[in-house]
Amino acid sequence: MAEEPVNKPTANEDDDFVDPWTVSGKSETGIDYDKLIKRFGSQKIDDEIIQRFEKVTGKKAHHFLRRGIFFSHRDIHNILNLYEAGKKFYLYTGRGPSSESMHIGHMVPFIFTKWLQDVFDVPLLIQLTDDEKVLWRDLKIDDARKMAFDNAKDIIAVGFDVEKTFIFNNLDFIGKCPAFYQNMVRIQKCVTYNQVKGIFGFGDSDVIGKITFPSIEAAPAFSTSFPFIFENKVLPCLVPCAIDQDPYFRMTRDVAARLKLPKPSLIHSTFLPALQGAQHKMSASDANTSIFLNDSAKHIKTKINKYAFSGGRTTVEEHRLKGGNTDVDISYKYLTFFLEDDDRLAEIKKEYESGVMLTGELKREAIDVITPWIQEYQKRRATVTDEVVEQFFKLRPLKF
Ligand code: TYM
Repeated sequence: MAEEPVNKPTANEDDDFVDPWTVSGKSETGIDYDKLIKRFGSQKIDDEIIQRFEKVTGKKAHHFLRRGIFFSHRDIHNILNLYEAGKKFYLYTGRGPSSESMHIGHMVPFIFTKWLQDVFDVPLLIQLTDDEKVLWRDLKIDDARKMAFDNAKDIIAVGFDVEKTFIFNNLDFIGKCPAFYQNMVRIQKCVTYNQVKGIFGFGDSDVIGKITFPSIEAAPAFSTSFPFIFENKVLPCLVPCAIDQDPYFRMTRDVAARLKLPKPSLIHSTFLPALQGAQHKMSASDANTSIFLNDSAKHIKTKINKYAFSGGRTTVEEHRLKGGNTDVDISYKYLTFFLEDDDRLAEIKKEYESGVMLTGELKREAIDVITPWIQEYQKRRATVTDEVVEQFFKLRPLKF
């Protein structure tokens, strides 16, 4: 890995740990994202980039950009330059289906990807890595394929345009697409065991499927993997994802240079934290940390009231006197993701920090924002039939 710094999963003991499988912070305030940018060698999304987004697209920046939820990038200027020059590119993101229903944390990259698709009017590829989950978890092939199909419904319900979006699950797709497999092999030939060991921390007792898997997540970042969409044109790619996926794309960018293909650009989000606190990302493998997209209003209310870590004080008197701490309060963090109204968010912050608003009231605000959001989402989800999913999965050209 000559060009970009290699992730050391065994960074200093007092560093936060972030890789595609584990996220664990050292502080109640959550991951130190500035430090992560330095360690991973990506770039910070600053005001200048946000302004450039607005100038180039003529649209107000999404609140995920304005609030630093999408906080880091690699070569985003390339994409903005292309768009400005009227040239084409495409979006690529994905999901590793590990539970029947996705949670609200998984929605973060997909909500933002939909916004990017609407703003730029470009094709989008969504990879469902059911193979990854078979290799990493105790999961049978057919169960993983079924989860991929169910998760596709969750993703489609975000509102993607069927004419511009292709969704595929690796276990069914790769066998139908020789060009994809050929790119996988090209990638596999560029990366040694030592390099993947350095990037992903693989060890002697890891199954060999894990060692080749990164080539499968890398391949969609090259347009030549999809001749039925792009013919054989070489188009640049932008990958929106949370920062945990970055190791795959550090590897991909290094390989791209060697294959003389464009390096994918990246735009990274922070993690929606677990209910229990910002040290951990919301994770489907621990149901009590998560609000699932199929939770009922009652579930949502109970989970937030019972589990959402509070930045409030131990007694009402103390809280009134000193105020609450929004840096650690999970209900407040969720509001930064899901409450679009900047003025109302600022008001809540002020009231909570000054002790005017109590923890119970802040939790109510979060419940009152998240519940209708999920209910609206569930209405759209109910309209996604098996036939709709099949349309998205069909091998076909996309409109752009
Ligand atoms: P997976 O299924 O772990 O996660 C899917 C997407 O959601 C992001 N994510 C989160 N974002 C915010 N807050 C959270 N708590 C949270 N948890 C997960 C992930 O970063 C990811 O963007 N190997 C991948 C699947 C994949 C992929 C890709 C992802 C294949 N190709 C290209 C992104 C881009 C996986 O298992 O994702």
